[in-house]
Amino acid sequence: MAELTIAIPKGRLERETVELFAAAGLRLDSQCDSRQLACRDESGKTRLIFVKPSDVPVYVEHGIADCGVVGSDVLFESEADLLQPLSLDFGCCRIAVAAPADRPENRHTMLRVATKYPRIASRYFGGRGQPVEIIELSGSVELAPALGLADCIVDLVETGRTLRENGLAVTDVIAQSAAQLVVNRASYQLKAHVIAKLISALKEALVSVKT
Ligand code: PRP
Repeated sequence: MAELTIAIPKGRLERETVELFAAAGLRLDSQCDSRQLACRDESGKTRLIFVKPSDVPVYVEHGIADCGVVGSDVLFESEADLLQPLSLDFGCCRIAVAAPADRPENRHTMLRVATKYPRIASRYFGGRGQPVEIIELSGSVELAPALGLADCIVDLVETGRTLRENGLAVTDVIAQSAAQLVVNRASYQLKAHVIAKLISALKEALVSVKT
């Protein structure tokens, strides 16, 4: 049995996560091909599972994975009870409100907001006393205003290219987001030694990647 199971988010953060873990000494077995969703490192002591970013907190909270990497955007949206011992310096982006550049948002009437982040959006507009209808989508959110489904969106903005190409502009930034290491509470106690070793190897890898 593996000493440690780590949940890796597929997609946007995947390549940098695997590179960071490799720099921290955790190399994937060469038998591991890209469609395999679970594989061991070369030592056989660590198992990596590749899951959808929004599922990382679920696997870690339930203790199926001892730890994982996930963006703060997913953590703000999730209600999972996890430890966050280390911020990893990549995947930096903003969670923002964006509206058609030629049709800025109307703050007085009921706004229709398309988003993959219903909780973040509700908290943000609720805090401003703005009545909203949240329209939950699972991707390509930038299409919603152009097609008349929503007045504005709440989404991740990294380079800003997707917004620009869909005629949208940021009207407010809700929060900054970056990749985080998350750890299951019980694993943090029961596997204290091996998790402390991983955190310290990751810290060193972050410094060496920067220099
Ligand atoms: C994210 C986000 C935006 C885009 C922003 O989508 O939801 O659509 O990236 O990046 P940019 O500012 O660099 O253009 P993702 O690629 O994760 O796919 P999705 O639309 O299916 O969620």
